Amino acid sequence: MEEINRAAWQSKANVKWFARLEGWTDPGEEAAFESIAAEVRGQPILDLGVGAGRTLPLLRKLSVDYTAIDYTPALVAECRKKYPDARVLSGDARDLSRFGAETFKLVVFSFNGIDAINPEDRRKVLGEVHRVLQSGGLFWFSAHNKEGPGHAEPFRLGIDKTRNPAKLLMRTLRALKDAPRAAHNHRRYSRLNEEQDGYSIMNAAAHTHGLLIH
Ligand SMILES: C[S@@+](CC[C@H](N)C(=O)[O-])C[C@H]1O[C@@H](n2cnc3c(N)ncnc32)[C@H](O)[C@@H]1O
Repeated sequence: MEEINRAAWQSKANVKWFARLEGWTDPGEEAAFESIAAEVRGQPILDLGVGAGRTLPLLRKLSVDYTAIDYTPALVAECRKKYPDARVLSGDARDLSRFGAETFKLVVFSFNGIDAINPEDRRKVLGEVHRVLQSGGLFWFSAHNKEGPGHAEPFRLGIDKTRNPAKLLMRTLRALKDAPRAAHNHRRYSRLNEEQDGYSIMNAAAHTHGLLIH
């Protein structure tokens, strides 16, 4: 999982894709944010797996005491380029030893980022998050689940929705160009799918079928 997912995050196409992302992923993410905003306003925030910084302006509206980390150098560089005044560090969510116990009021791992971490290391992340959170602090993350649409996705070409016909055409052409790679990834990585007690590891359609997710 580690090797496959790291390769996906750092691919040029994905760095470009993350760099373009802005705003909420969906109304559910925004609603979750609204439900915790008052409780964490003005308090220290740690944003794990920040990528190219989609969540950065959203969270800095809540607090200027904001720190982000990511373990993909190309995404950290992109994030720093977009937000040169922000505290964006290169680091791994499995080892938060640079931060003291009970430092943050809010820890975030958005956009199902935690699902790309293998089950054993996922427990390490949860342990570290617990350690750096203040008593009564909040961990805000999203994750796939076995009843959700992301479970056991069949092969598909990822074409992001848009109402702009020119953009739709471009995206369709790009997806067709990427189709052989997506098919190759799907064939190779689906062999690694496994069903366990209470969870699965599956190849996801995102990023040209380039991820194995929890
Ligand atoms: C789905 S992307 C989300 C990026 C960003 N949070 C967003 O919402 O646009 C997941 C991110 O988590 C990062 N990531 C995955 N595992 C990580 C780990 N163990 N430590 C730090 N970052 C990690 C990846 O590099 C990637 O940037």
